[in-house]
Amino acid sequence: MIVLDKITKKHGARVLFEDVSAAFTPGHRYGLTGPNGCGKSTLLKIMMGVEHQTSGKVVLPKRVSYLKQNINEFLNMKVRDVVIMGNERLYRALSERDRLYSGDITDAIGMRLAELEEIVAEENGYVAESDAEALLLHIGIKRESFDREMSEIPTDHQFRVLLCQAIFCKSDALLLDEPTNHLDLESIKWLEDLLHDYEGTLIVVSHDRHFLNTVCTDIADIDYDTIICYSGNYDEMVATKSHIKERIELDNKSKEKKIAQLKEFVAKFGSGTRASQAKSRVKEIDRLNPQEIKKSNIQRPYIRFHPPQKPSGQSVYKISKISKSFNGVPVIKNFSYEIHRGDKIGVIGNNGRGKTTLLQMISGKLKPDSGTITIGHQVEIGYFPQNHSDVIDKSSPCKILEYLTKQNTKLNEQEIRSVLGKLLFSGDEAFKEVTKLSGGETARLILASIMLNEFNTLILDEPNNNLDLEAVSALGWGLDEFKGSAIFASHDRDLLDIAANKIIAFEDDGIHTFDGKFEKYLEKRAATKK
Ligand SMILES: Nc1ncnc2c1ncn2[C@@H]1O[C@H](COP(=O)(O)OP(=O)(O)OP(=O)(O)O)[C@@H](O)[C@H]1O
Ligand SMILES: [Mg+2]
Repeated sequence: MIVLDKITKKHGARVLFEDVSAAFTPGHRYGLTGPNGCGKSTLLKIMMGVEHQTSGKVVLPKRVSYLKQNINEFLNMKVRDVVIMGNERLYRALSERDRLYSGDITDAIGMRLAELEEIVAEENGYVAESDAEALLLHIGIKRESFDREMSEIPTDHQFRVLLCQAIFCKSDALLLDEPTNHLDLESIKWLEDLLHDYEGTLIVVSHDRHFLNTVCTDIADIDYDTIICYSGNYDEMVATKSHIKERIELDNKSKEKKIAQLKEFVAKFGSGTRASQAKSRVKEIDRLNPQEIKKSNIQRPYIRFHPPQKPSGQSVYKISKISKSFNGVPVIKNFSYEIHRGDKIGVIGNNGRGKTTLLQMISGKLKPDSGTITIGHQVEIGYFPQNHSDVIDKSSPCKILEYLTKQNTKLNEQEIRSVLGKLLFSGDEAFKEVTKLSGGETARLILASIMLNEFNTLILDEPNNNLDLEAVSALGWGLDEFKGSAIFASHDRDLLDIAANKIIAFEDDGIHTFDGKFEKYLEKRAATKK
């Protein structure tokens, strides 16, 4: 069981939580939800002991595993070892055992080795390697990477290895912060099944509605400056929450009506012969006191991309027979396609198939090995990279407003602030340090910088990662309304459903293109697979 006892967390004057108490029990799988920046990651870090609370106490079970975020810590280690490290007791015993076996074995060392063998046996150490390998294979890491150092594999794979590390050990509690961010639909499905069978206490942060609905038995929702636990999955929580709100609203309405009648009586008879009756009515008014409806912190950003002053030509890109290989492995083979003005193209497919490669080639960041990409007249690109740190330098401190002013020197502060307000950075939020932003806040900042310019072509690589549900649908509508062209890679159904009118799909049997909505593409695909 995990217990939070009167936890308060403040960042300067900003209060994230005050006196929050909650208990998370084994056998339950909790989704920790709430909008971007409400403090989900902070709360998990407090539970992990990585960040300190301002006051209060956390009680944890003996073994807690969690998804580490600091990839740099493991860059020089072998992939398989990083997974086994998920069981710290075993990993330490194995390392010490190997070290002792490589030297002279005295009596004392022999005794120590016996102790270590006992630990290895207790922790199922003899099957550790095969267990670790099975996890890696399931999550899409090929066998040839197992003995490589982390630094030698792509970043999204490094993240997956850390996920394997978190789930490797049979722990009493498992804490996962946005585990699906770097996973494709197949791996998400695998993780859903795995977590579904988890017997300890699971707390998972995610903005993926489908994932939360599949995995969670309970939702701990951060809202109204506190944490409220609801039993049931995400959709059930949303329904209960709005039901409670409606009930309070209805109750308040009938109370207000009653109060108005009572007040009328008091005004009429307050000082006459019926004064004593009026007095009891005053007491009744006090008793009825309508419940204050707290404002929910769920907010929807308003995302609209400027209609381009200078539209691009009718043909935006003419892709002709392009091919690209990495280390001799072909990723894109002989692909031809034409992107027309006004197209909203959803690029889908499992990770590692070449979505980012295609987007980078279209945007000119990468050259094809053969074939050509002809750019149309007056095409101006706004790019949203898969890795936020490609555009936001988190090492040099800079405030949001300052950052955007540097990006676009033509606009005045008022104009920038107006876009910031739409992206929920109003008032003092504009002076937040870029280095301290949460994942979703960083994504919103990148969108703000795109909105401040008048690009006629948007190339977005998994822009929904980190964004909360409200922001993802706002982005979908923004793209749908956009008068220019957009090409965006995504696994998010909501975003694809709302915004895409064409699909480029990286499938097992090659790249498929489809003129129509995502739903229609899925229908056609299912029909052809039968
Ligand atoms: N060191 C810090 N100083 C000031 N503010 C901070 C600091 N660290 C985090 N914050 C702020 O605290 C808030 C909570 O951050 P946190 O990362 O916990 O949010 P989150 O709920 O995980 O959001 P997301 O869904 O975007 O990941 C954010 O508004 C963030 O900007
Ligand atoms: Mg977070």
